[in-house]
Amino acid sequence: MNLRLQATTPGAKIIGLGSFQPEQVVTNDDLARRVETNDQWIRDRVGIVERRIAEKDTSLVDMAVEAGSRALKDSGLAAADVDTVIVATCTMTAPIPNAAAQTADRIGISAPAAFDLNAACAGFCYGLGTAADLVRAGTAKNVLVVGAEKLSDWVDWDDRSTCIIFADAAGAAVVTAARSADEVGIGPVSWGSAGDQATTIRILEESTHKLWQHGQAVFRWATTRIAPVALDAVARAGITLADIDVLVPHQANLRIVEAVAKKLRKEGAREDLRVADDIVHSGNTSSASIPMALDHMRAAGRVRSGETALLVGFGAGLSYAGQVVRIP
Ligand code: UT7
Repeated sequence: MNLRLQATTPGAKIIGLGSFQPEQVVTNDDLARRVETNDQWIRDRVGIVERRIAEKDTSLVDMAVEAGSRALKDSGLAAADVDTVIVATCTMTAPIPNAAAQTADRIGISAPAAFDLNAACAGFCYGLGTAADLVRAGTAKNVLVVGAEKLSDWVDWDDRSTCIIFADAAGAAVVTAARSADEVGIGPVSWGSAGDQATTIRILEESTHKLWQHGQAVFRWATTRIAPVALDAVARAGITLADIDVLVPHQANLRIVEAVAKKLRKEGAREDLRVADDIVHSGNTSSASIPMALDHMRAAGRVRSGETALLVGFGAGLSYAGQVVRIP
């Protein structure tokens, strides 16, 4: 007796994007009043000019709901059309209930499959890869993928090496089935992890319960290991680097973003490749950074519908994931 499977689809595509940032702007000078740092050091070493930090009574789920609602509106679908919700996050303050079920309920999505996914700053790309495969396998019809982080709950505001980097936000995408092969808008994911370096970014359970990272070690790893992941994602999609219009790496540090772009240009990416620099005014928002950067670039007219973007996320785990997508 054979068990019947769902009918498969040719693949998946993104049909909506949305993002949300809290109102409160925190400048480098604001931080310099609390820890020993200065505007110039932060601009030179990380590229951040300002970031947004959520008020105490704004929750991670509040931000996920805003970003998710905006992506849904952008997609033209109704809440009732969505059957799966994935929230990529590493900053929930309590592991249960998960963010996805609460986010779905507040958006008005009834009884979806709903789960959180923790791949830290690679979380959105992990979520997008998972959503695309669920749609391709016929398991899901329309998936809302959200990256949402309230890093301010976990930052040690007295640690100048981390408090200047991290920020709060959410970004989201709606994924649906492509009707034919030439409509496929999400390439295969290239993903993996380096658990041997797990201790380089972690919550210090034994002491402060705050976020800590070995900045230099992560910097070295990201500037050497991430360009090959991006290259692999391009190869898996069956295109070449010259076909890429926009590069959207996780916004961890502008110097890492520029190092990855430089390596890809050496490998054949175009000189006019547009490179996301959302970190400058948004800070490092972990799993929210990639969808939010895409959404901001589209709103600013820096990317157009139908263009080809290369996404690559990396961070705690250490985890990484990348894929090629078409801009909706
Ligand atoms: O999103 C998750 C993935 N995370 C990342 O990708 C982060 C990767 N790492 C980085 O982005 C960088 O390593 C940091 C931004 C975290 C740090 O920049 P760096 O250029 O690697 O600085 P460093 O740690 O080598 O520190 C250089 C100096 C040190 O002083 P000494 O020992 O040379 O006297 C630090 O104490 O800079 C000092 N320093 C600061 N000075 C002013 C560290 N933080 C600050 C600060 N202001 N905020």
